[in-house]
Amino acid sequence: MKLWGGRFTRPTDTRVDDFHSSIGFDWQLYRYDIMGSQAHARGLARARVITEADADLIVEGLEQILTDIEAGKLPFSVEAEDIHMNIEAELIARIGEPGRRLHTGRSRNDQVAVDTRLYLKDQLSKIEGMILELQQALVEQAEATKNYIMPGFTHLQPAQPILAAHHFLAYVEMFQRDRERLADCYKRVDVCPLGAGALAGVTYPIDREWVAQQLGFSAVTANSLDAVSARDYLIEFISAAGILMMHISRLCEEIILWATPAFNFIELDDAFSTGSSIMPQKKNPDVAELARGKTGRVVGHLVGLLTMMKGLPLAYNKDMQEDKEAMFDTVHTCVGVLGVMTPMIRSMQVKPERMENACVEGFLTATDLADYLVRKGVPFRSAHEIVGKIVLYCTENQLTLADLSTAELRRFAPEADDDVQETISLQASVNARMVIGGTAPAAVENALSRARKLVADRLLRGAN
Ligand code: ARG
Repeated sequence: MKLWGGRFTRPTDTRVDDFHSSIGFDWQLYRYDIMGSQAHARGLARARVITEADADLIVEGLEQILTDIEAGKLPFSVEAEDIHMNIEAELIARIGEPGRRLHTGRSRNDQVAVDTRLYLKDQLSKIEGMILELQQALVEQAEATKNYIMPGFTHLQPAQPILAAHHFLAYVEMFQRDRERLADCYKRVDVCPLGAGALAGVTYPIDREWVAQQLGFSAVTANSLDAVSARDYLIEFISAAGILMMHISRLCEEIILWATPAFNFIELDDAFSTGSSIMPQKKNPDVAELARGKTGRVVGHLVGLLTMMKGLPLAYNKDMQEDKEAMFDTVHTCVGVLGVMTPMIRSMQVKPERMENACVEGFLTATDLADYLVRKGVPFRSAHEIVGKIVLYCTENQLTLADLSTAELRRFAPEADDDVQETISLQASVNARMVIGGTAPAAVENALSRARKLVADRLLRGAN
Protein backbone atom coordinates (compact mmCIF):
# COMPACT_ATOMS: atom_id res chain seq x y z
CA MET A 1 0.00 0.00 0.00
CA LYS A 2 1.40 3.38 -1.00
CA LEU A 3 0.51 6.34 1.19
CA TRP A 4 0.70 8.60 -1.88
CA GLY A 5 -1.21 6.36 -4.29
CA GLY A 6 -4.22 8.64 -5.00
CA ARG A 7 -3.13 10.15 -8.31
CA PHE A 8 -1.69 6.91 -9.70
CA THR A 9 -3.53 4.36 -11.74
CA ARG A 10 -0.79 1.77 -11.97
CA PRO A 11 1.36 0.30 -9.22
CA THR A 12 5.04 1.11 -8.94
CA ASP A 13 7.27 -1.27 -10.84
CA THR A 14 8.91 -3.54 -8.27
CA ARG A 15 12.28 -2.65 -9.78
CA VAL A 16 11.60 0.96 -8.84
CA ASP A 17 10.62 -0.07 -5.31
CA ASP A 18 13.92 -1.88 -4.95
CA PHE A 19 15.84 0.99 -6.48
CA HIS A 20 14.54 3.94 -4.52
CA SER A 21 13.64 2.35 -1.22
CA SER A 22 15.81 3.53 1.66
CA ILE A 23 14.39 1.37 4.43
CA GLY A 24 17.42 -0.93 4.16
CA PHE A 25 19.43 1.74 5.94
CA ASP A 26 17.17 4.54 7.18
CA TRP A 27 15.45 2.12 9.59
CA GLN A 28 18.24 3.29 11.91
CA LEU A 29 16.31 6.53 12.32
CA TYR A 30 13.21 4.84 13.76
CA ARG A 31 13.60 6.18 17.29
CA TYR A 32 14.06 9.74 16.06
CA ASP A 33 11.25 9.43 13.54
CA ILE A 34 8.91 8.41 16.34
CA MET A 35 10.13 11.21 18.62
CA GLY A 36 9.63 13.72 15.84
CA SER A 37 6.13 12.44 15.05
CA GLN A 38 5.07 12.49 18.67
CA ALA A 39 6.18 16.10 19.08
CA HIS A 40 4.49 17.00 15.79
CA ALA A 41 1.21 15.38 16.93
CA ARG A 42 1.33 17.33 20.19
CA GLY A 43 2.04 20.48 18.20
CA LEU A 44 -0.99 19.84 15.98
CA ALA A 45 -3.21 19.39 19.04
CA ARG A 46 -1.85 22.56 20.65
CA ALA A 47 -2.72 24.42 17.45
CA ARG A 48 -6.17 22.79 17.56
CA VAL A 49 -5.61 21.15 14.20
CA ILE A 50 -6.32 17.73 15.70
CA THR A 51 -7.97 16.87 19.01
CA GLU A 52 -6.02 16.07 22.16
CA ALA A 53 -7.69 12.67 22.11
CA ASP A 54 -6.32 11.94 18.63
CA ALA A 55 -2.90 13.21 19.66
CA ASP A 56 -2.99 10.84 22.66
CA LEU A 57 -3.85 7.92 20.40
CA ILE A 58 -1.06 8.83 17.98
CA VAL A 59 1.54 9.27 20.72
CA GLU A 60 0.51 6.03 22.41
CA GLY A 61 0.35 4.10 19.12
CA LEU A 62 3.83 5.32 18.19
CA GLU A 63 5.11 4.32 21.61
CA GLN A 64 3.90 0.77 21.05
CA ILE A 65 5.44 0.70 17.60
CA LEU A 66 8.74 1.77 19.17
CA THR A 67 8.52 -1.05 21.70
CA ASP A 68 7.77 -3.57 18.95
CA ILE A 69 10.60 -2.37 16.72
CA GLU A 70 13.04 -2.62 19.61
CA ALA A 71 11.80 -6.11 20.38
CA GLY A 72 12.44 -7.04 16.76
CA LYS A 73 8.74 -7.73 16.26
CA LEU A 74 8.09 -5.31 13.43
CA PRO A 75 9.45 -6.19 10.01
CA PHE A 76 9.88 -3.25 7.62
CA SER A 77 8.65 -3.31 4.04
CA VAL A 78 10.54 -2.20 0.96
CA GLU A 79 7.27 -1.29 -0.69
CA ALA A 80 6.59 1.31 2.00
CA GLU A 81 9.84 2.91 0.80
CA ASP A 82 11.40 4.49 3.84
CA ILE A 83 11.30 4.56 7.62
CA HIS A 84 8.88 7.49 7.68
CA MET A 85 6.21 5.74 5.66
CA ASN A 86 6.81 2.37 7.25
CA ILE A 87 6.02 3.82 10.65
CA GLU A 88 3.11 5.96 9.45
CA ALA A 89 1.54 3.02 7.59
CA GLU A 90 1.93 0.84 10.66
CA LEU A 91 0.34 3.51 12.84
CA ILE A 92 -2.63 3.76 10.50
CA ALA A 93 -2.96 -0.01 10.46
CA ARG A 94 -3.05 0.00 14.24
CA ILE A 95 -5.16 3.04 15.18
CA GLY A 96 -7.00 3.88 11.97
CA GLU A 97 -8.30 7.38 11.32
CA PRO A 98 -6.35 9.36 13.97
CA GLY A 99 -3.23 7.88 12.42
CA ARG A 100 -4.29 9.31 9.08
CA ARG A 101 -4.22 12.80 10.65
CA LEU A 102 -0.56 12.65 11.73
CA HIS A 103 0.91 13.85 8.46
CA THR A 104 -1.11 17.10 8.55
CA GLY A 105 1.13 20.14 8.26
CA ARG A 106 4.19 18.08 7.57
CA SER A 107 6.13 16.64 4.67
CA ARG A 108 8.69 13.90 4.55
CA ASN A 109 11.08 16.65 3.60
CA ASP A 110 10.99 18.37 6.98
CA GLN A 111 10.46 14.99 8.63
CA VAL A 112 13.65 13.42 7.28
CA ALA A 113 15.57 16.57 8.18
CA VAL A 114 14.36 16.52 11.77
CA ASP A 115 15.11 12.79 12.11
CA THR A 116 18.62 13.24 10.79
CA ARG A 117 19.33 16.19 13.04
CA LEU A 118 18.08 14.36 16.12
CA TYR A 119 20.15 11.31 15.22
CA LEU A 120 23.25 13.39 14.59
CA LYS A 121 22.95 15.27 17.85
CA ASP A 122 23.14 11.97 19.73
CA GLN A 123 25.99 10.67 17.61
CA LEU A 124 28.03 13.87 17.86
CA SER A 125 27.78 13.67 21.59
CA LYS A 126 28.64 9.97 21.66
CA ILE A 127 31.68 10.39 19.41
CA GLU A 128 32.86 13.42 21.39
CA GLY A 129 32.75 11.29 24.54
CA MET A 130 34.70 8.50 22.87
CA ILE A 131 37.41 10.90 21.71
CA LEU A 132 37.66 12.11 25.29
CA GLU A 133 38.36 8.54 26.42
CA LEU A 134 41.06 8.19 23.80
CA GLN A 135 42.62 11.43 25.07
CA GLN A 136 42.52 10.05 28.59
CA ALA A 137 44.43 6.95 27.46
CA LEU A 138 47.01 9.19 25.79
CA VAL A 139 47.36 11.30 28.93
CA GLU A 140 47.94 8.11 30.93
CA GLN A 141 50.68 7.11 28.51
CA ALA A 142 52.14 10.60 28.77
CA GLU A 143 52.22 10.34 32.57
CA ALA A 144 53.97 6.98 32.33
CA THR A 145 56.57 8.17 29.82
CA LYS A 146 57.41 11.66 31.05
CA ASN A 147 60.99 10.63 31.81
CA TYR A 148 61.56 8.68 28.60
CA ILE A 149 63.67 10.33 25.92
CA MET A 150 62.99 9.35 22.32
CA PRO A 151 63.98 10.69 18.93
CA GLY A 152 61.68 13.28 17.44
CA PHE A 153 61.60 13.04 13.65
CA THR A 154 61.31 15.24 10.62
CA HIS A 155 61.16 13.52 7.23
CA LEU A 156 61.04 10.37 9.39
CA GLN A 157 64.74 10.96 10.00
CA PRO A 158 65.91 11.28 13.62
CA ALA A 159 65.92 15.01 14.38
CA GLN A 160 66.06 16.10 18.02
CA PRO A 161 65.46 14.34 21.32
CA ILE A 162 62.03 14.78 22.86
CA LEU A 163 60.19 13.30 25.81
CA ALA A 164 57.92 10.43 24.81
CA ALA A 165 55.20 12.17 26.83
CA HIS A 166 55.57 15.20 24.57
CA HIS A 167 54.79 13.00 21.58
CA PHE A 168 51.65 11.56 23.17
CA LEU A 169 50.50 15.01 24.26
CA ALA A 170 50.72 16.24 20.66
CA TYR A 171 47.88 13.83 19.88
CA VAL A 172 45.90 15.02 22.89
CA GLU A 173 45.95 18.49 21.31
CA MET A 174 44.81 17.18 17.92
CA PHE A 175 41.96 15.25 19.46
CA GLN A 176 40.99 18.27 21.52
CA ARG A 177 40.48 20.24 18.31
CA ASP A 178 38.47 17.33 16.94
CA ARG A 179 36.17 17.47 19.95
CA GLU A 180 35.85 21.22 19.56
CA ARG A 181 34.98 20.81 15.88
CA LEU A 182 32.22 18.35 16.75
CA ALA A 183 30.90 20.62 19.49
CA ASP A 184 30.87 23.52 17.07
CA CYS A 185 29.13 21.46 14.40
CA TYR A 186 26.53 20.50 17.03
CA LYS A 187 25.34 24.12 17.19
CA ARG A 188 24.37 24.05 13.53
CA VAL A 189 22.77 20.61 13.80
CA ASP A 190 20.75 21.69 16.83
CA VAL A 191 18.08 23.57 14.84
CA CYS A 192 14.56 22.26 14.21
CA PRO A 193 13.24 22.20 10.63
CA LEU A 194 9.68 21.02 11.48
CA GLY A 195 7.11 23.44 10.11
CA ALA A 196 9.01 23.96 6.87
CA GLY A 197 6.65 21.41 5.29
CA ALA A 198 7.51 20.35 1.77
CA LEU A 199 9.39 23.58 1.01
CA ALA A 200 7.29 26.70 1.65
CA GLY A 201 6.15 26.38 5.25
CA VAL A 202 2.78 25.04 6.40
CA THR A 203 -0.71 26.57 6.52
CA TYR A 204 -1.49 25.44 10.08
CA PRO A 205 -0.73 27.68 13.07
CA ILE A 206 1.83 25.29 14.52
CA ASP A 207 3.96 26.77 17.29
CA ARG A 208 7.28 25.79 15.78
CA GLU A 209 9.26 26.99 18.75
CA TRP A 210 7.23 24.94 21.17
CA VAL A 211 7.65 21.80 19.05
CA ALA A 212 11.38 22.44 18.76
CA GLN A 213 11.61 22.79 22.51
CA GLN A 214 9.79 19.49 23.06
CA LEU A 215 12.45 17.83 20.95
CA GLY A 216 15.31 19.51 22.78
CA PHE A 217 16.36 21.80 19.92
CA SER A 218 17.86 25.19 20.70
CA ALA A 219 16.31 27.02 17.74
CA VAL A 220 14.08 26.71 14.67
CA THR A 221 15.26 27.08 11.09
CA ALA A 222 14.74 30.55 9.64
CA ASN A 223 13.95 29.70 6.02
CA SER A 224 11.72 26.85 4.91
CA LEU A 225 13.56 26.22 1.63
CA ASP A 226 16.86 26.05 3.45
CA ALA A 227 15.33 23.87 6.18
CA VAL A 228 14.46 21.05 3.80
CA SER A 229 17.38 21.28 1.43
CA ALA A 230 20.39 22.05 3.63
CA ARG A 231 22.80 19.22 4.21
CA ASP A 232 25.83 21.28 5.14
CA TYR A 233 25.41 20.39 8.83
CA LEU A 234 25.86 16.75 7.85
CA ILE A 235 28.73 17.48 5.49
CA GLU A 236 30.31 19.45 8.31
CA PHE A 237 30.02 16.43 10.60
CA ILE A 238 31.59 14.15 8.00
CA SER A 239 34.32 16.69 7.41
CA ALA A 240 35.10 16.88 11.14
CA ALA A 241 34.95 13.08 11.24
CA GLY A 242 37.36 12.93 8.29
CA ILE A 243 39.84 15.13 10.15
CA LEU A 244 39.41 13.00 13.26
CA MET A 245 40.06 9.86 11.25
CA MET A 246 43.10 11.46 9.63
CA HIS A 247 44.50 12.13 13.12
CA ILE A 248 43.73 8.59 14.23
CA SER A 249 45.36 7.31 11.07
CA ARG A 250 48.57 9.24 11.74
CA LEU A 251 48.70 7.86 15.26
CA CYS A 252 48.12 4.36 13.87
CA GLU A 253 50.87 4.82 11.34
CA GLU A 254 53.28 5.63 14.17
CA ILE A 255 52.11 2.68 16.22
CA ILE A 256 52.69 0.43 13.22
CA LEU A 257 56.19 1.83 12.73
CA TRP A 258 57.04 1.75 16.41
CA ALA A 259 55.98 -1.87 16.66
CA THR A 260 58.35 -3.00 13.89
CA PRO A 261 61.61 -4.67 14.97
CA ALA A 262 63.44 -1.82 13.21
CA PHE A 263 62.02 0.73 15.68
CA ASN A 264 60.95 -1.54 18.52
CA PHE A 265 59.74 1.44 20.57
CA ILE A 266 56.57 -0.26 21.78
CA GLU A 267 55.09 -3.65 22.44
CA LEU A 268 51.41 -3.95 21.59
CA ASP A 269 49.35 -6.03 23.95
CA ASP A 270 48.65 -9.53 22.61
CA ALA A 271 44.94 -8.81 22.97
CA PHE A 272 45.28 -6.01 20.42
CA SER A 273 47.54 -7.77 17.91
CA THR A 274 47.01 -10.65 15.54
CA GLY A 275 49.05 -13.53 14.16
CA SER A 276 49.84 -14.78 10.68
CA SER A 277 48.23 -17.87 9.21
CA ILE A 278 51.57 -19.00 7.79
CA MET A 279 54.45 -17.25 9.60
CA PRO A 280 54.53 -18.43 13.22
CA GLN A 281 56.79 -15.62 14.43
CA LYS A 282 54.47 -12.79 13.38
CA LYS A 283 52.67 -10.40 15.65
CA ASN A 284 50.86 -7.92 13.48
CA PRO A 285 49.38 -4.51 14.34
CA ASP A 286 46.14 -5.24 12.45
CA VAL A 287 44.00 -3.01 14.64
CA ALA A 288 46.09 0.04 13.86
CA GLU A 289 46.26 -0.88 10.18
CA LEU A 290 42.53 -1.35 9.83
CA ALA A 291 41.85 1.91 11.64
CA ARG A 292 44.28 3.66 9.29
CA GLY A 293 42.58 2.02 6.32
CA LYS A 294 39.09 3.00 7.40
CA THR A 295 40.04 6.67 7.14
CA GLY A 296 39.62 6.31 3.41
CA ARG A 297 35.94 5.53 3.54
CA VAL A 298 35.10 8.58 5.67
CA VAL A 299 37.06 10.86 3.37
CA GLY A 300 35.27 9.15 0.47
CA HIS A 301 31.88 9.90 2.03
CA LEU A 302 32.85 13.55 2.36
CA VAL A 303 33.76 13.83 -1.30
CA GLY A 304 30.68 11.80 -2.23
CA LEU A 305 28.29 14.12 -0.42
CA LEU A 306 29.89 17.33 -1.61
CA THR A 307 29.62 16.02 -5.14
CA MET A 308 26.05 14.83 -4.68
CA MET A 309 24.96 18.23 -3.35
CA LYS A 310 26.87 20.61 -5.58
CA GLY A 311 24.41 20.82 -8.45
CA LEU A 312 21.09 20.56 -6.64
CA PRO A 313 18.52 23.29 -7.14
CA LEU A 314 16.35 24.28 -4.16
CA ALA A 315 14.64 22.69 -2.43
CA TYR A 316 14.43 18.93 -1.76
CA ASN A 317 15.65 16.48 -4.40
CA LYS A 318 15.68 12.74 -4.04
CA ASP A 319 19.43 12.75 -4.63
CA MET A 320 19.66 13.78 -1.01
CA GLN A 321 18.58 10.37 0.16
CA GLU A 322 22.15 9.40 -0.70
CA ASP A 323 23.26 11.28 2.42
CA LYS A 324 22.06 8.49 4.72
CA GLU A 325 24.50 5.68 4.03
CA ALA A 326 27.39 8.13 4.17
CA MET A 327 26.14 9.42 7.50
CA PHE A 328 25.53 6.02 9.08
CA ASP A 329 28.78 4.57 7.81
CA THR A 330 30.74 7.57 9.06
CA VAL A 331 29.17 7.21 12.50
CA HIS A 332 29.74 3.45 12.62
CA THR A 333 33.32 3.84 11.42
CA CYS A 334 34.23 6.47 14.00
CA VAL A 335 32.51 4.62 16.83
CA GLY A 336 34.05 1.29 15.80
CA VAL A 337 37.56 2.68 15.42
CA LEU A 338 37.50 4.72 18.63
CA GLY A 339 36.18 1.71 20.51
CA VAL A 340 39.36 -0.31 19.80
CA MET A 341 41.89 2.54 19.65
CA THR A 342 41.49 3.54 23.28
CA PRO A 343 42.17 0.13 24.85
CA MET A 344 44.97 -0.51 22.33
CA ILE A 345 46.73 2.71 23.37
CA ARG A 346 46.07 2.08 27.02
CA SER A 347 47.51 -1.43 26.95
CA MET A 348 50.65 -0.89 24.88
CA GLN A 349 54.08 -0.95 26.54
CA VAL A 350 56.61 1.76 25.74
CA LYS A 351 60.28 0.72 25.69
CA PRO A 352 62.54 3.49 27.03
CA GLU A 353 65.90 1.77 26.33
CA ARG A 354 65.11 1.31 22.67
CA MET A 355 64.00 4.90 22.36
CA GLU A 356 67.14 6.18 23.99
CA ASN A 357 69.44 4.02 21.85
CA ALA A 358 67.78 5.40 18.75
CA CYS A 359 68.65 8.90 19.96
CA VAL A 360 72.29 8.03 20.43
CA GLU A 361 72.57 6.45 16.99
CA GLY A 362 70.86 9.35 15.30
CA PHE A 363 73.17 12.25 16.33
CA LEU A 364 70.16 13.85 17.91
CA THR A 365 72.07 16.48 19.84
CA ALA A 366 73.85 17.87 16.76
CA THR A 367 71.68 21.01 16.91
CA ASP A 368 72.57 21.41 20.58
CA LEU A 369 76.25 21.23 19.72
CA ALA A 370 75.75 23.96 17.11
CA ASP A 371 73.78 26.06 19.64
CA TYR A 372 76.64 25.54 22.11
CA LEU A 373 79.15 26.92 19.62
CA VAL A 374 76.85 29.87 18.98
CA ARG A 375 76.96 30.63 22.71
CA LYS A 376 80.77 30.58 22.37
CA GLY A 377 80.56 33.27 19.69
CA VAL A 378 80.51 31.19 16.48
CA PRO A 379 77.94 32.42 13.91
CA PHE A 380 75.13 29.85 13.55
CA ARG A 381 75.83 29.10 9.86
CA SER A 382 79.47 28.34 10.65
CA ALA A 383 78.49 26.27 13.68
CA HIS A 384 76.10 24.30 11.47
CA GLU A 385 78.90 23.52 9.04
CA ILE A 386 81.37 22.56 11.74
CA VAL A 387 78.92 20.16 13.36
CA GLY A 388 78.08 18.73 9.94
CA LYS A 389 81.76 17.86 9.54
CA ILE A 390 81.82 16.27 13.01
CA VAL A 391 78.79 14.12 12.10
CA LEU A 392 80.47 13.09 8.84
CA TYR A 393 83.61 12.13 10.74
CA CYS A 394 81.57 10.07 13.21
CA THR A 395 79.66 8.32 10.41
CA GLU A 396 82.86 7.42 8.62
CA ASN A 397 84.37 6.04 11.81
CA GLN A 398 81.25 4.42 13.23
CA LEU A 399 81.18 6.73 16.24
CA THR A 400 78.40 8.54 18.04
CA LEU A 401 78.69 12.14 19.28
CA ALA A 402 79.00 10.83 22.83
CA ASP A 403 82.09 8.82 21.82
CA LEU A 404 84.08 11.98 21.03
CA SER A 405 86.34 13.42 23.69
CA THR A 406 86.53 17.16 24.17
CA ALA A 407 89.99 17.11 22.61
CA GLU A 408 88.62 15.42 19.49
CA LEU A 409 85.79 17.93 19.29
CA ARG A 410 88.27 20.80 19.60
CA ARG A 411 89.99 19.60 16.40
CA PHE A 412 86.82 20.72 14.60
CA ALA A 413 85.75 23.49 16.94
CA PRO A 414 88.51 25.10 19.01
CA GLU A 415 85.79 27.07 20.86
CA ALA A 416 84.63 23.91 22.63
CA ASP A 417 85.44 23.65 26.35
CA ASP A 418 84.92 20.85 28.84
CA ASP A 419 81.32 21.98 29.46
CA VAL A 420 80.52 20.83 25.92
CA GLN A 421 79.98 17.25 27.07
CA GLU A 422 77.11 18.04 29.43
CA THR A 423 75.47 20.34 26.87
CA ILE A 424 75.24 17.66 24.26
CA SER A 425 73.79 14.97 26.49
CA LEU A 426 70.27 13.88 25.60
CA GLN A 427 68.91 15.10 28.91
CA ALA A 428 70.54 18.53 28.54
CA SER A 429 69.15 18.82 25.04
CA VAL A 430 65.65 18.16 26.25
CA ASN A 431 66.03 20.33 29.36
CA ALA A 432 67.07 23.29 27.25
CA ARG A 433 63.74 23.48 25.43
CA MET A 434 61.93 25.33 28.16
CA VAL A 435 59.66 27.50 26.00
CA ILE A 436 55.92 27.11 26.36
CA GLY A 437 55.01 24.08 24.27
CA GLY A 438 58.60 22.78 24.29
CA THR A 439 59.84 19.37 25.35
CA ALA A 440 61.71 20.27 28.57
CA PRO A 441 60.47 18.21 31.52
CA ALA A 442 59.09 21.30 33.26
CA ALA A 443 57.30 22.44 30.10
CA VAL A 444 55.88 18.95 29.62
CA GLU A 445 54.75 18.93 33.24
CA ASN A 446 52.79 22.11 32.50
CA ALA A 447 51.42 20.55 29.34
CA LEU A 448 50.34 17.54 31.37
CA SER A 449 48.36 19.64 33.79
CA ARG A 450 46.76 21.44 30.87
CA ALA A 451 45.91 18.06 29.30
CA ARG A 452 44.46 16.72 32.56
CA LYS A 453 42.09 19.68 32.62
CA LEU A 454 41.14 19.19 28.97
CA VAL A 455 40.19 15.58 29.55
CA ALA A 456 38.27 16.25 32.74
CA ASP A 457 35.17 17.45 30.92
CA ARG A 458 32.85 16.60 28.07
CA LEU A 459 32.12 19.41 25.63
CA LEU A 460 28.76 17.89 24.68
CA ARG A 461 26.33 16.26 26.99
CA GLY A 462 23.60 14.64 25.00
CA ALA A 463 21.68 11.45 25.51
CA ASN A 464 24.93 9.50 25.85
N1 ARG B 1 13.77 8.72 2.11
C1 ARG B 1 13.78 10.11 1.78
C2 ARG B 1 15.17 10.67 2.03
O1 ARG B 1 15.90 10.07 2.72
C3 ARG B 1 12.81 10.85 2.63
C4 ARG B 1 12.33 12.12 2.02
C5 ARG B 1 11.55 11.83 0.81
N2 ARG B 1 10.87 12.96 0.30
C6 ARG B 1 10.36 12.97 -0.92
N3 ARG B 1 9.78 14.04 -1.28
N4 ARG B 1 10.46 11.95 -1.72
O2 ARG B 1 15.54 11.68 1.51
